Amino acid sequence: MNKTHMTLGEYIIDNQNHFKYSSGELSRLINSIRLAAKVVNHEIRKAGLVDITGASGDINVQGETQQKLDVLANDLFKQTLINREIVCGIGSEEEDDFIVVEGKNKANDNKYVLLMDPLDGSSNIDVNVSVGTIFSIYRRVSPEGTRVTKEDFLQKGSEQVAAGYVAYGTSTILVFTTGNGVNGFTLNPAIGTFYLSHPNIQIPKKGSIYSINEGNYVHFPQGVKEYLKFCQEEKENRPYTSRYIGSLVSDFHRNMIKGGIYMYPTSTIGPKGKLRLLYECNPMAFIAEQAGGKATDGYRRILDLEPTELHQRVPFFCGSTDMVEKAEEFMAKHPEDANY
Ligand code: AHG
Ligand code: MN
Ligand code: MN
Repeated sequence: MNKTHMTLGEYIIDNQNHFKYSSGELSRLINSIRLAAKVVNHEIRKAGLVDITGASGDINVQGETQQKLDVLANDLFKQTLINREIVCGIGSEEEDDFIVVEGKNKANDNKYVLLMDPLDGSSNIDVNVSVGTIFSIYRRVSPEGTRVTKEDFLQKGSEQVAAGYVAYGTSTILVFTTGNGVNGFTLNPAIGTFYLSHPNIQIPKKGSIYSINEGNYVHFPQGVKEYLKFCQEEKENRPYTSRYIGSLVSDFHRNMIKGGIYMYPTSTIGPKGKLRLLYECNPMAFIAEQAGGKATDGYRRILDLEPTELHQRVPFFCGSTDMVEKAEEFMAKHPEDANY
């Protein structure tokens, strides 16, 4: 079969043996994510028509206003996974604590935990700009058949067995890796099927797009300010182009295809950065590396960071290897900013 005619369902069956541990459980989990993504996509596409835009009236554990669609997407992913008894635990940006998923007779023999940012870029919902979902999967470290513990969630990013994102953009695309490269599947909305549209995605090694919220410029560390001046210099193939959607998934996806760097550094107003290590940075870092790119906190590889708390934030520099390394060169001149 022509590879691009392959559906996600067929891909999962064909590649099951290549998945790490290949017990069939990971395949079933990815199948459930596929289903939840379709349901969330269906709901999001109704924004503006039914009363699902705007704030929910609640604040999440990180002090951020929850949007109605944040809550809806979180519930849909949670329910899809819980109903199928496919994971033993779930961690979510929208939940105060991790969720213990109990199976039949309370015991849970499933091996995997899932962490997610159910709706990324939620401040963009009301203005019709692309949003996304990010997920990250680990094998539990606690014994099977027991309740999951925090240690199951606080694993280094390098321990991920799969990670991916769904971009609800001009089309809906599910991009994921199980540690054997990165593939993208575009949804045909008429029949509700994902097709392999972007096989073996490779981030261009060099890029010419930088993506950062420059409104925070005066609050940035010196190394970031100097790197931005470098990007804007008229020299060689510069100045680079600036693009910032404000939805990590969309900015990241564009860079995956076109090449570029995404940065969310520390600042005097956000001393640890904004993005969350477990729900956003680790999965994106795994995908970036699998596509030949790089992800650091400006000094250290994201996937080597030792998580200490569920909702931990870290600075994030991610994308085309040459660009991330150049940013790191500027950061290295200011080693004091490595301790955030
Ligand atoms: P979320 O909607 O899940 O809270 O994530 C928003 C994140 C990310 O998607 C985006 O790149 C960044 O926040 C934008 O932040 P600023 O508005 O501070 O630039
Ligand atoms: Mn997010
Ligand atoms: Mn979110």
